[in-house]
Amino acid sequence: MFMKTYAFAFLLLLCIALCASQDVEFTFNGFTGSNLMLDGVASIESNGLLRLTNNTSQKKGHAFYPSPVRFGSNTSSFSTTFVFVFVPEKSGIGGQGMAFFISPTNNLSTAMAAEYLGLFNEENEGKSTNHIFAVEFDTIQNEEYEDKNNNHVGININSLTSNQSEFAGYYDDDSGSFQNLNLMSHKTMQVWVEYESEDKEIKVTLSPVGKSKPNKPLLSYKFDLSVVLKDTMYIGFSSSTGSFPASHYVIGWSFKLNGTAPSIDLSKLPDPPRRNTKELSKVLKIVLPSVFAGFVLICVPIFIYMRRQFKYAELLEDWEVEFGPHRFSYKDLHQATNGFKEKELLGAGGFGRVYRGVLPVSKLEVAIKRVSHGSKQGMKQFIAEVVSIGRLRHRNLVQLFGYCRRRGELLLVYDYMPNGSLDQYLYSGHEKPTLNWIQRFKIIKGVAAGLLYLHEEWEQVVVHRDIKASNVLLDSELNGRLGDFGLAILYDHGTEADITNVVGTMGYLAPELTRTGKASPLTDVFAFGAFMLEVVCGRRPVEPGAQGERIVLVDLVLEHWKQGSLADIVDPQLRETFAIEEIEMVLKLSLLCSHPLPGARPTMQQVMQYLDCGKPLPDLMVSSMNYSMLAILQNEGFDSFVMSYSSQMTSISTQSVGT
Ligand SMILES: *[C@@H]1O[C@H](CO)[C@@H](O)[C@H](O)[C@H]1NC(C)=O
Ligand SMILES: *[C@@H]1O[C@H](CO)[C@@H](O)[C@H](O)[C@H]1NC(C)=O
Ligand SMILES: *[C@@H]1O[C@H](CO)[C@@H](O)[C@H](O)[C@H]1NC(C)=O
Ligand SMILES: *[C@@H]1O[C@H](CO)[C@@H](O)[C@H](O)[C@H]1NC(C)=O
Ligand SMILES: *[C@@H]1O[C@H](CO)[C@@H](O)[C@H](O)[C@H]1NC(C)=O
Ligand SMILES: *[C@@H]1O[C@H](CO)[C@@H](O)[C@H](O)[C@H]1NC(C)=O
Repeated sequence: MFMKTYAFAFLLLLCIALCASQDVEFTFNGFTGSNLMLDGVASIESNGLLRLTNNTSQKKGHAFYPSPVRFGSNTSSFSTTFVFVFVPEKSGIGGQGMAFFISPTNNLSTAMAAEYLGLFNEENEGKSTNHIFAVEFDTIQNEEYEDKNNNHVGININSLTSNQSEFAGYYDDDSGSFQNLNLMSHKTMQVWVEYESEDKEIKVTLSPVGKSKPNKPLLSYKFDLSVVLKDTMYIGFSSSTGSFPASHYVIGWSFKLNGTAPSIDLSKLPDPPRRNTKELSKVLKIVLPSVFAGFVLICVPIFIYMRRQFKYAELLEDWEVEFGPHRFSYKDLHQATNGFKEKELLGAGGFGRVYRGVLPVSKLEVAIKRVSHGSKQGMKQFIAEVVSIGRLRHRNLVQLFGYCRRRGELLLVYDYMPNGSLDQYLYSGHEKPTLNWIQRFKIIKGVAAGLLYLHEEWEQVVVHRDIKASNVLLDSELNGRLGDFGLAILYDHGTEADITNVVGTMGYLAPELTRTGKASPLTDVFAFGAFMLEVVCGRRPVEPGAQGERIVLVDLVLEHWKQGSLADIVDPQLRETFAIEEIEMVLKLSLLCSHPLPGARPTMQQVMQYLDCGKPLPDLMVSSMNYSMLAILQNEGFDSFVMSYSSQMTSISTQSVGT
């Protein structure tokens, strides 16, 4: 009898324990002594701050709640809130961002830093097999993932492209007006993420810390999370830095499954990292004028907006009169593309979306690229350059016909290339046929000829700044034509380019660019080297490796050369050809072009001589090409590399430049 009662009581207790463990609930008012699982550069500081990244570029860090949470097959409601602060390296500048995530695994070791936010990599980005839900706080604008600006909050499902996103800010309860928040302002903020399983709705609310939760959420998105989430999932934070470092901190966190997250006791939270005072005075110096400028910048567009708020509104200013012939009306472009229908979308990525269209009167088939162009600053010069580029004529360049300008947006009108872009032929997963070596070699030579024209043969020097397979288009005869001049800069022969923002694509950026900010024909040559490798090997210049590191194609080719196995790195589709000597020559030339020292790279004139006239390459000593591009890209030990190798390099550079 007694035994029975005991057994019953025991079972009851067990049941209570089990049932309770289903409804996970926790609060961290600071993280001292917490058992979070950390990886990457994440750490818990002595005062209890969870620091996900530590003011170092190209790093990632994760913090997981240690045990998985049972959301159930019909995802239960949940709610979470956390207090966080981002500290930029220098006032205002820093990236990449942070995310709250729900993931099926607590091993995100293959995820990459920078734009991948420590959540995805090139391989799995966008795939439904990820089963990842995230709320991102992103401070770098990545147009490839359709980021709104460099200060936004987004709901992301399996992808870096947000399903819904908004500028960071909140709706004021009293006035209902939207208040901006700057994520990179070193201000502490609080977030609420809630999911309601009955309405199938995700809500994200942001506010300055200390303010009560605003009634109207920043984001609300109807979505059935059970489509994405598995029964049992891990929850946590991920953060990454790109080229500009920052530190991302979480100060407090609470969570509840099937209920409202307990409130965080702000008085118990550790002090946020202190702002150094020297910076503060600098901040004032910068902030005050920019507040005024911001006022002007906000009011002027609003004024203009109100005056021109109709469908085909465009921006047209007095200085544009001289460019008249190169200007298209928005109405025409709208008609040409059937109102920018999804059906006419040729591609999205890099710096915008590209649509196919047929111009109403001329019936000319065109490709129209829509680029967001936030600031008015430099617009006049930019348009002048667009118009100059419109005067370029070469059979290996895609003709730029003209432009149109709207609020915050620029449309560039190019000749339409029926065969699409080269990358579609190089990478599997596309329906395009593979190209044989003769076709590929012709494309390489064509692009080289186009570049030579840009660098040396036209009235000004044109530096393209974004050479890569996806910007090479194929005409009806499969000639390679360099397109997309959206980033090109022009300057007079005999002078140098101004220092500009470093733009381009990872893997094609010459190392000196990130140091000096100066684009030159030789930085294009570097990218051209990466491009040739891409065409010969059928691989991207930077690919994610098994451990989340980056595999750099240049390093791989160099390694194969040292081992005498260059043929093994060639695209398997090409290995049957008899032109292996020609292929090896192109590989070696690529390495010379992608040399970390600009002085060691050939000019396009020399490249043409090697490619076209069969001029032998300078005698390259593989041992003196002993560099690791990965190390250089990561900016590790680059200066010492220059010092220790420059003496050996000069022999190569004089050889190749002098011949
Ligand atoms: C950041 O963390 C990594 C790994 O913990 C460490 O090697 C590095 O020195 C840290 N950097 C700074 C600036 O604290
Ligand atoms: C980040 O590191 C850089 C370089 O070490 C330093 O100049 C800067 O002050 C650091 N920023 C912060 C906020 O600690
Ligand atoms: C995480 O995954 C990687 C690659 O899948 C694997 O090599 C590594 O051992 C895993 N780490 C742990 C701690 O399980
Ligand atoms: C949004 O979510 C769904 C998941 O059902 C995904 O397939 C879709 O591509 C997402 N992205 C966008 C930008 O809508
Ligand atoms: C999932 O749960 C919600 C809320 O509890 C309920 O309204 C809905 O009917 C459930 N759906 C299924 C398929 O069980
Ligand atoms: C969630 O909570 C409600 C009410 O508190 C309860 O009826 C329901 O069974 C709970 N659901 C789960 C999955 O625990």
